Amino acid sequence: MKNIKIIGTGRYLPPKVVTNDDLSRTMDTSDEWIRERTGIRARRVVEGDTATSHLAARAIENACHDAGIEPSQLDGIIVGTCSQDTLFPSTACWVQDHLQIRGMPAFDVMAGCSSFLYGLEIASNWVAGNPDKRVAVCGAEVFSKILNWDDRRTSVLFGDGAGAAIVSGGHGDSGIMASNWGSDGTLASILQVPGGGTRMPASHASVDERAHTVHMEGSKVFRHAVTAMSQGLLEALATAGVTADDVDVFIPHQANLRIMEAARERAKIPLERVFSVLDDYGNISAASIPVAISEAREAGVLKDGQVLAMTAFGTGLTWAASVMRW
Ligand code: ACO
Repeated sequence: MKNIKIIGTGRYLPPKVVTNDDLSRTMDTSDEWIRERTGIRARRVVEGDTATSHLAARAIENACHDAGIEPSQLDGIIVGTCSQDTLFPSTACWVQDHLQIRGMPAFDVMAGCSSFLYGLEIASNWVAGNPDKRVAVCGAEVFSKILNWDDRRTSVLFGDGAGAAIVSGGHGDSGIMASNWGSDGTLASILQVPGGGTRMPASHASVDERAHTVHMEGSKVFRHAVTAMSQGLLEALATAGVTADDVDVFIPHQANLRIMEAARERAKIPLERVFSVLDDYGNISAASIPVAISEAREAGVLKDGQVLAMTAFGTGLTWAASVMRW
């Protein structure tokens, strides 16, 4: 057991709602197709100049407020994102700029939708056993600005939002009972934004080819996602020495209802233990787990002493799972 405590959670979702019906007015899709294949009903999207760091800063502020601390009292800031503000500096540094705080280390973790659990793993090792340390772990995305809105196979899936948790050294029984993380870079090409980096620097041609937007081989991602999410979860449960029945709340990465359901079934976790925000927000990648945690706490679903199981997969392909006593 790694002794940590999440002392505050928060989220920020941009106010603009785009429903499936809204999308069906601008592209060849339907509410029925999207709901049947994914479980998504609506998503939030930013407007104007809003960038990922704006959402992250609001979520971290809200989490600090919940923890009863000022952002300036943080000992570190980790932002998980694959829709960063700029190639550099990191989105976490832009967050410091928004919050006008300095001094503590701030950096991004880029493991796609697994980024929040990667960040939690790093923060847990950082603060374990030290109740005076407080590290903000945030998942934040603005996918609406990196999607090809002419590609109905990807654009209907994603949304914008941010969630954050303040991780502190633990007291008593709370902490990470077991966790695992991994990656298979031989599958890197099946989900990527090919343009804008050193492989394909930005050019007129890269813009014309829409190379700066999400490219995904959906059915391949689906297959690997089910295996990665289930195996990571089963391993974490076994290492923690708990059965599916001991899990009070299950928060999988919320990419697609069918993927979540397959992971739940393989782990034999009862349906009523799943907490989901997918229908309202779509796939918000790194933000999906911390947003769901924040909502689960507010709804009184996630309470002190309970066992929370989380599992995720993302571009890379990466995966991560964690079982914690809240
Ligand atoms: N509306 C209507 N029809 C559509 C749409 C749409 N939005 N998108 C695709 N179709 C059509 C296709 O053109 C195809 O038609 P055709 O048979 O005439 O060619 C048909 O529907 C089936 O398309 P598939 O791509 O085979 O559909 P599939 O059942 O595989 O579902 C989906 C697609 C939902 C994308 C699925 O593959 C999936 O969920 N994959 C995982 C994606 C995922 O989770 N990505 C997130 C990764 S996380 C990260 O790190 C960012």
